[in-house]
Amino acid sequence: MARYELVKRSVALITLTNPPVNASSSAVRHAIAKSMKCALSDPEVTAVVICGENGSFCGGADIREFAGPLKGPPLVPLLDAIEAGEKPVVAAIEGVALGGGFELALVCHYRIAHSKARLGFPEVTLGILPAAGGTQRLLRLIGIPAAAISLKLGIVDQVTEQNACEVAVEFALRAVAKPLLSRRVSMLTTRCPPDLDALLDAVTMQVKKKAPGVMAPLACIQAVRAAATMPYYKGIKREGELMATLFNSGQAWALQYCFFAQRTAGKWTLIRSAAVIGLGTMGRGIAVCLARVGISVIAVESEKKLLETGRQMVIGMLERDAKRRGVSASLNLFKFTLSLHDLKDVDLVIEVVFEDMALKKRVFQELSKVCRPATLLCTNTSGLDVDALAGVTDRPHLVVGMHFFSPAHVMKLLEVVCGPRSSSETIATAMSLGKRMGKVSVAVGNCPGFVRNRMLKPYIDQATFLLEEGATPEQIDKALEDFGFAMGVFRMSDLAGLDVGWRVRKESGLNGSDVDPESPPRRRQGRRYCLIPDMVCEQGRFGQKTGGGWYMYDKRGGTNAKPDPLIQNLLETYRSKYGIQPRNISNQEIVERCLFALANEGFGILEDGMAARPEDIDVIYLFGYGFPRHRGGPMFYASMVGLERVLKRLEHYHQAHPDVPHLKPSPLLKTLVACGIPPVQKWREHIKTMHSHL
Ligand code: NAI
Repeated sequence: MARYELVKRSVALITLTNPPVNASSSAVRHAIAKSMKCALSDPEVTAVVICGENGSFCGGADIREFAGPLKGPPLVPLLDAIEAGEKPVVAAIEGVALGGGFELALVCHYRIAHSKARLGFPEVTLGILPAAGGTQRLLRLIGIPAAAISLKLGIVDQVTEQNACEVAVEFALRAVAKPLLSRRVSMLTTRCPPDLDALLDAVTMQVKKKAPGVMAPLACIQAVRAAATMPYYKGIKREGELMATLFNSGQAWALQYCFFAQRTAGKWTLIRSAAVIGLGTMGRGIAVCLARVGISVIAVESEKKLLETGRQMVIGMLERDAKRRGVSASLNLFKFTLSLHDLKDVDLVIEVVFEDMALKKRVFQELSKVCRPATLLCTNTSGLDVDALAGVTDRPHLVVGMHFFSPAHVMKLLEVVCGPRSSSETIATAMSLGKRMGKVSVAVGNCPGFVRNRMLKPYIDQATFLLEEGATPEQIDKALEDFGFAMGVFRMSDLAGLDVGWRVRKESGLNGSDVDPESPPRRRQGRRYCLIPDMVCEQGRFGQKTGGGWYMYDKRGGTNAKPDPLIQNLLETYRSKYGIQPRNISNQEIVERCLFALANEGFGILEDGMAARPEDIDVIYLFGYGFPRHRGGPMFYASMVGLERVLKRLEHYHQAHPDVPHLKPSPLLKTLVACGIPPVQKWREHIKTMHSHL
């Protein structure tokens, strides 16, 4: 885990050897401690250089070890001993020095970094903070006002283009005669601005606004305050206390869970190239995603004028995107055409025409005639039966759904919809293409709405039922935003556009002329139905794009949502028309009904085999709906609340609202409670016996 050798007769070279990034696992810490003891006790050795194998200094802690009890030597005394040693220690930093790796570099008396090296503390993304003196030493080195990390701040003593290790050895030889006291970072005093309190208060406000409810960044600010106001030995104690609080918090568990879930979810490999049919809202973004990663794109429209509009939009998007990323726009990768015959040689086609089964079937029939037999045929349908499309082609095994989310060139999620006849190679190709485009790709089954949209329905339904019962859009949104969503359900719907759902409801006979005139009020197809969303749409209010929806906006396309008295009126009239006595609804009820209904549908999806594992569902919600990461995703959140409690609350709400089937606890939830409430990672074992569509 660390190689020890003597170079230039007097320099002990300690090379960390724990691929891929030399994480400071218990074995590595043990090896460092042993090597340092050797170096400090050997009279031949006058200086020490620490580096990492394979161009990486140290990527920090091995996160997998967080779950168990601490093994091997603890990091803080190990690092303190390196700093206190009487021989100069030089860190030779190549690749990354992150988290614990950066802390290791900070206790060395000198730091030599390659110009491409990256140094930093990413702990906050895992819900914790650097707790081996990192917050205390870094601040002592660079002072409080520093805004960014760079050589200028004095973190490293020399930047090199050469092999950092060789440079560090030469540097170490020169450092032998120099006094060490001023090189011990923990002995330095933190440089502070006179208005420290005001500065930290302002940063606290900013953090609270940017990441409401998230604990780790606030704890970091407290650690910074400690570094500024306390001697080192007290500061590090404070850092340790803050870490203990964070480490045992649900937020750290959730964020670490997300870290692993994200990796598990994208498990396919295999790459091909593509073409796009339909240059509307989604097609344009998808074409940009493809070109951005160097894939040549043939873009097809149905009419000359639409083709020209699409072309201009795509070019504009590409140019803006390239400018933002500081690269040149890859316009030469594009060919625009009206003829499907131009697609005869492409590897993969993504169909993005209107959501109309008859039209899509015609396109797929045509594609199977013109494309070579190995071409993959993908659809971006948001809910139609992928297998029905596969059925009209000559290659059902090469048909798969690639469900992007709007705006396609921005949203990270890609649902890869696996039809019963999609081959594993086809699915692998779609998954790997998604990954190449920088998407988080998740394989899902072929059911109405797939996973994201299927779960969204009960979530939105609950919100509208709560409106009927006495809540306002702003109250519901506030409760969900306090929970951690960047936007509550109504603000989010206003952003996405209310007309889409309205059209879907019309097509499924829930409103409009197809409704059975005999159906009782506020009931459709045998279950409770809230008419308010349709009434909002009937007034031409489709959300931000029309200047009004659940809220009012100062202009069309405006984003500043203000409560609208018109909606307030509509709610009051509605309630009195249907004899509903409005009641005070608590934020707890709002969060429970929306979130538990969401998770309950997730259990149903797992049970139906439409998602392979709860982690996949959580990743879908993290990247496809802005679910607060520090809550871990709907399924992890349910497990944190406690499945028994979720079950009890769902039973309670279902009893109060028996005409809402989505509140009826799913059998899988009941099974998990009955078999002792296993952790999320083990749910799969109880799902395996069921029928998987993946
Ligand atoms: P859109 O109406 O903006 O664009 C559809 C485009 O397809 C139009 O430009 C139309 O001229 C073109 N088109 C129609 N027939 C064609 C043909 N035979 N050949 C070539 N081009 C043809 O629709 P949008 O929103 O882009 O949706 C497209 C598909 O993506 C639908 O299946 C929709 O359900 C799905 N989707 C939409 C999302 C959204 O937020 N808008 C999100 C995810 C999926």
